[in-house]
Amino acid sequence: MKNTKVALITGVTGQDGAYLSKLLIKKGYNVYGTARRGASEKFSRLEFLNIKNKINIIDFDLLELSNIQKIIKEIEPDEIYNLAAQSFVPTSFELPILTSDINSLGVVRLLDSIVNINKDIKFYQASTSEMFGKVTESPQSETTRLYPRSPYGVSKVFSHYMTINYRESHDLFACSGILFNHESPLRGHEFVTKKITRGLTKIKNGSQDCILLGNLDAKRDWGHAADYVEAMNMIMNNNKPDDFVVSSGATSTVKDFVDKCLKTLNFDYAWEGEGLEKIVINKKSNKPIVKIDKKFFRPAEVDILMGDPSKIKKELNWRPKHTLDSLIEEMIAFEINNPNLSF
Ligand code: NAP
Ligand code: GDD
Repeated sequence: MKNTKVALITGVTGQDGAYLSKLLIKKGYNVYGTARRGASEKFSRLEFLNIKNKINIIDFDLLELSNIQKIIKEIEPDEIYNLAAQSFVPTSFELPILTSDINSLGVVRLLDSIVNINKDIKFYQASTSEMFGKVTESPQSETTRLYPRSPYGVSKVFSHYMTINYRESHDLFACSGILFNHESPLRGHEFVTKKITRGLTKIKNGSQDCILLGNLDAKRDWGHAADYVEAMNMIMNNNKPDDFVVSSGATSTVKDFVDKCLKTLNFDYAWEGEGLEKIVINKKSNKPIVKIDKKFFRPAEVDILMGDPSKIKKELNWRPKHTLDSLIEEMIAFEINNPNLSF
């Protein structure tokens, strides 16, 4: 029996990979993290958290079965956290086949490798509130019907059910966290919270004129990534493999998020116009600083997400430390202090 637990985190270069690595290192794990070789390989998040040299980085791609098997045999992990994915919803409409190969078949490649190499390896799947899509009830819980609205959402429903199926058919410790949107200063630049906090901070300091957004009416249940990776580790160390919704329990529109950021940055502003003509005017300069651009609307939208985190709170005693207001303050402070850092 080894004294130190070995964790393999796929997608360690992403937002959650960085925060989860930090947590597991603090907990004494030996952490292996996977990155894709090539132009997209980037370690700026791990460097920002000062943990790059504490992680064993390995070349890995969810598209390649032999690569996955070789790595699991070599590393002999106790726990695999599968965070790797094509995670941007708009890209999934452009690249539905690649998205499915990575997000759906990639998970079967991992699960089947575990069955063939060592059935004692625990497996965590990064499931998502996008699976609820066109929601059939609010708030959404572990028992809410799934109705995905994007190739990304569909790909994650497949991998969610595959994880359940491998648990039930092969007796694996395979579990899923159904995580609602979670953000942080390390969020990728294309996601809406980063686009807003970064863009408005640049406008405030005079280095940008305006931001262009899509659907302001969409509602999301936003939390902080640092809280949500704690939930992942709790789910993996539960006494039985199970699936849990992880969310704040509240929902806000994208417009509410913009308002909160404008207030945090002390803009004197007003909303004007309706629909595609809606704008935010900076009263000081009399210029528009937020405009709507049709290209940021999606072919099918998820109008409202609001999770019910009762199960994970009751059974695992998970308690988030951040609020939406503290998240926004942290994201804006990061942009003010790190104007040249982009993820
Ligand atoms: P992210 O920042 O986009 O990170 C995704 C990671 O996956 C990156 O490290 C990326 O590596 C890697 N990856 C992409 N394609 C791969 C492939 N073919 N083989 C191996 N690695 C690949 O995502 P995140 O926000 O950290 O989210 C982590 C996971 O949670 C994802 O599965 C996401 O779908 C899921 N999730 C996220 C949220 C959220 O709100 N953040 C909510 C629910 C679920 P490169 O750097 O090489 O591209
Ligand atoms: N990205 C983006 N850019 N979204 C915009 C914009 C814009 O300019 N304007 C409005 N939105 C709206 C989108 O239409 C969506 O309703 C909402 O803002 C949130 O968009 P994203 O931040 O791109 O996140 P997401 O909800 O589509 O997906 C994220 O959360 C999922 C969990 O629910 C991703 O992290 C997924 O990987 C994750 O599974």
